[in-house]
Amino acid sequence: MVDKGAGVAPAEGKLGILLVGLGAVSTTLVAGVEAIKRGISEPVGSLTQMGTIRLGKRTDNKVPKIKDFVPLASLDDIVFGAWDIFTDNAFEAAMNAGVLDKDLLNQVSEQLASLKPMPAVFEQNYVKRLHGDNIKTGKNKMELAEQLIEDIAKFKSDNGCSRLVMLWAASTEIYIEEADCHASIESLEKAMYDNDPRIAPSMIYAYAALKSGVPFANGAPNLTVDIPAMVELADKTGQPICGKDFKTGQTLMKTILAPGLKSRMIGLDGWYSTNILGNRDGEVLDDPENFKSKEVSKLSVLEHIFQPEVYPELYKDFSHVVRINYYPPRGDNKEGWDNIDIFGWLGYKMQIKIDFLCRDSILAAPLALDLALFMDLAQRAGMKGVQEWLSFYFKAPQTAPGLYPEHDLFIQLMKLKNTLRHMMGEELITHLGLEYYD
Ligand SMILES: NC(=O)c1ccc[n+]([C@@H]2O[C@H](COP(=O)([O-])OP(=O)(O)OC[C@H]3O[C@@H](n4cnc5c(N)ncnc54)[C@H](O)[C@@H]3O)[C@@H](O)[C@H]2O)c1
Repeated sequence: MVDKGAGVAPAEGKLGILLVGLGAVSTTLVAGVEAIKRGISEPVGSLTQMGTIRLGKRTDNKVPKIKDFVPLASLDDIVFGAWDIFTDNAFEAAMNAGVLDKDLLNQVSEQLASLKPMPAVFEQNYVKRLHGDNIKTGKNKMELAEQLIEDIAKFKSDNGCSRLVMLWAASTEIYIEEADCHASIESLEKAMYDNDPRIAPSMIYAYAALKSGVPFANGAPNLTVDIPAMVELADKTGQPICGKDFKTGQTLMKTILAPGLKSRMIGLDGWYSTNILGNRDGEVLDDPENFKSKEVSKLSVLEHIFQPEVYPELYKDFSHVVRINYYPPRGDNKEGWDNIDIFGWLGYKMQIKIDFLCRDSILAAPLALDLALFMDLAQRAGMKGVQEWLSFYFKAPQTAPGLYPEHDLFIQLMKLKNTLRHMMGEELITHLGLEYYD
């Protein structure tokens, strides 16, 4: 907990954003930041760059941009670093990913080509579909973490950064459950020395980040920092952590629509969601063990929003199915269909159909930027441990133990903005508004 208006250290010097995984999302982020810096495009989709925040009463007309209200790092001060299992530089990787058109990539080719991935910590068992050779070797997982710690220190000094943040934008790892080796720093470190198979590569990166005094955000559904050992380590090292799984296409739509249906006390019989996706992420998720991580993260949303235990007449036993089908012709341009069976007054049935022709990485890149900037802000504000106020960005937000996550996008946004107001010593906004009628 940070005290109200406790003060935030200024964003002086360069901010290094360390990307784990230099695939579709990461390269779209890096190319986008370069394009925005040159005025080629506006930062559409980024709350930190375009969003505003109301301060005081509605009659005060004080609505600064978020980036003018809190001391965020400027885009000009960002330097990117990355690890990947492939040696392709960011220009080659962006070309392969096929998200952005060649004309745009050619305009920022110099910056992209200079971003070359460092050798990755990778274990085939966690992502069976990918075979790369830009991979570190070491006698155990602790030694691999030490190599990452060296990479981090070298990157920081080579690039003259004053601060760093790390973001997991690598492939989704196979589903694993929390186990005793994840229970404390001590058991985690022992398991790393013992090469325990339950220590995923993403945990090794997170461990290295936290040990290096670097905040860590997780854009994929892997457990990673959502285990007691990492929460303890974040607390001990004073670093912010957050996750899991960027909330972009279909789940974004769910957390926009479901709160609306529930607020009108409209019943739900079922919600069937299916997707076709043809990028590398889709290929990895075609493996049932990797898809299981995604499925768990996607399924939790509706249960929490509809609260069937509180409203059994409306939401008991509703059916919720989520599918992702790998379909190469579509590349990164995912198509997501939802069929929603609802009922109203006197139980009369109705249906809603959604066909969202989205672009996965176009939706994810601004979230990655915002997360990096807000995690850096959190660190300068002295906020350590789980950053629940960043739930806005995630499908399966990490919370304190025993606390259910808030999935409603609008409550998440209010929480985020109130956290910024709290940080800067401003009054919180409750939307009560009785004072206008005194
Ligand atoms: N794009 C979205 O809308 C979205 C939404 C939610 C979550 N995500 C998640 O974000 C992640 C990135 O998505 P993407 O579309 O960029 O995928 P991608 O497959 O294009 O890129 C992932 C990259 O990570 C690399 N990688 C795999 N394991 C690694 C490791 N251990 N260390 C370093 N690099 C490693 C791969 O080689 C690949 O280049 C995925 O886990 C995806 O599920 C994406």
